[in-house]
Amino acid sequence: MLFQPFQLAKLSLKNRIVMPPMTRSRANTGEVATDLMAEYYSQRASAGLIISEGTQVSRQGQGYAWTPGIFSKAQIEGWGKVTKAVHEKDGLMFAQLWHVGRVSHTSLQENGKAPVSASAILAEGVKVFLDLEGKGPGEGAGEMVQHSLPTELTVSQIKSIIADFVHAAKNAILAGFDGVELHGANGYLIEQFIDSQTNLRSDAYGGSLENRLRFLREVTTAVADAIGPEKVGVRQAPLTTLMGATDDNPEETYIAAAKMLNEIGIAYIHIAEADWDNAPIMPVAFKEAYREAFKGTLIYAGKYTKERADEALAKGWTDLVAFGRPFIANPDLPYRLANNLRLNEPDKTKFFGGTGKGYTDYPIASQN
Ligand SMILES: Cc1cc2nc3c(=O)[nH]c(=O)nc-3n(C[C@H](O)[C@H](O)[C@H](O)COP(=O)(O)O)c2cc1C
Repeated sequence: MLFQPFQLAKLSLKNRIVMPPMTRSRANTGEVATDLMAEYYSQRASAGLIISEGTQVSRQGQGYAWTPGIFSKAQIEGWGKVTKAVHEKDGLMFAQLWHVGRVSHTSLQENGKAPVSASAILAEGVKVFLDLEGKGPGEGAGEMVQHSLPTELTVSQIKSIIADFVHAAKNAILAGFDGVELHGANGYLIEQFIDSQTNLRSDAYGGSLENRLRFLREVTTAVADAIGPEKVGVRQAPLTTLMGATDDNPEETYIAAAKMLNEIGIAYIHIAEADWDNAPIMPVAFKEAYREAFKGTLIYAGKYTKERADEALAKGWTDLVAFGRPFIANPDLPYRLANNLRLNEPDKTKFFGGTGKGYTDYPIASQN
């Protein structure tokens, strides 16, 4: 089933294999996507759908060195080269729109200000990848540093972040992306509002479940109104505890979110199931509840093998399956999976920052 075409809203996907968003920190000065990035993504265009690495909607939304943005003219042009290269190889690509919230550092913020979040809570031990010595995105550069204490967002600041998401979504369409995915997962800003332990607000954006979901509702509605709900997906990570974000009642919270997103009528929900933090695989009942709550397309990611993907499709838990680390090391992953070929192992030391090494130089079996 993995190799059968799939209709995602108005888009015809050639297979059910997705390349999920993966930060690789290889943008250049000005956080502009490069020709090397165009080569990397186009090498992987045999995926049914590619979702770009997390792409900040504003300077404030950046948390790591050399992650690309999509709020300046140069950034739109940089991404334009990437989407053109992917489309030339018959690929389809969404941009993952990202605001990191508290997972940032004063050195990345305008005038050295504190990063922002739902509440002013420091997550001990949560580190960000920075270029404090200003070496640039070369080999071996960058260091991991504890994130900075955030300030609590005011309501007018929240509204302006929603406007930043809308601006970024329109820019993504101008840059040739086929749609956008809002990063509502992995402990970044949207999830900082959703999860009970990172949101201690007592106004309309905190407290009750409805209030904790308000930011997600407003940002998704605004982006869907701007570019069309069929071009919008949302990523969620109900059970991961990445970046110190946890919810006391994940099933209740995230199924309510899925119902709300269903009403907005977006194209898909992308569930980051297990990650590197060894979050548990989601129980079957949770997956079935997602199906019941959301009538659009579901994508799952997290330690999938071909066998687990086939099972998830056959059982009807998901429509599409994303393979993250396997795609880093295997540009021609669909070909390899279809032909039961051995997979290359990813070089973890080259995940963030650097050159084409461990990025665009993995062997491509389909060209041998
Ligand atoms: C190097 C790297 C960077 C990642 N960056 C992002 C990101 O920018 N946005 C996101 O939502 N998930 C990110 N992820 C998580 C992946 O999308 C995926 O959910 C995770 O790797 C689990 O899938 P896998 O086991 O197939 O690798 C990243 C993962 C890796 C390995």
